[in-house]
Amino acid sequence: MIRVLFVCLGNICRSPMAEAIFKDLVKKEGLDEKITVDSAGIGHWHIGSEPHEGTRAILDEKSISYEGMSARQVKASDWDDFDYLIAMDDKNIQDLKGIREKNDVVVAKLLDFVPHSKESEVPDPYFTGNFEYVYDLVHDGCFKLLEKIKNDHNL
Ligand code: 4NP
Repeated sequence: MIRVLFVCLGNICRSPMAEAIFKDLVKKEGLDEKITVDSAGIGHWHIGSEPHEGTRAILDEKSISYEGMSARQVKASDWDDFDYLIAMDDKNIQDLKGIREKNDVVVAKLLDFVPHSKESEVPDPYFTGNFEYVYDLVHDGCFKLLEKIKNDHNL
């Protein structure tokens, strides 16, 4: 099993959006028996909360399910339980490195996988309010990440 964890600050806007989109792509590719997906936040503020209404609205518009998703905080055991920790911005990467480092876990930003991306970080819609723009960036990142994982693991 290949295990992917998406990480942002609050786990209510960007990383749950990535989790839902990536799960949808994985399912459409028939890879749900091979790839598991989750998301978590650096902060503890929203533990137990459903995704932000802006994230829910755009996922509803795109007919992508977020059923059963609730926010949780990143924990040290995530480095044992996941192969890929995929963050949204540079601060997330810095925070993740402060929690733990482990050689065989890939820690990267989602948009690192998008060649010539117009952004290197996914801007936080909790502050910008622009969930449409974030959806497009996250979707591109998820699509390219899945291509890379399929390629790396001969799926
Ligand atoms: P996210 O957005 O990291 O994309 O989930 C945020 C949500 C909440 C907060 C910050 C960012 N907050 O400070 O509560």
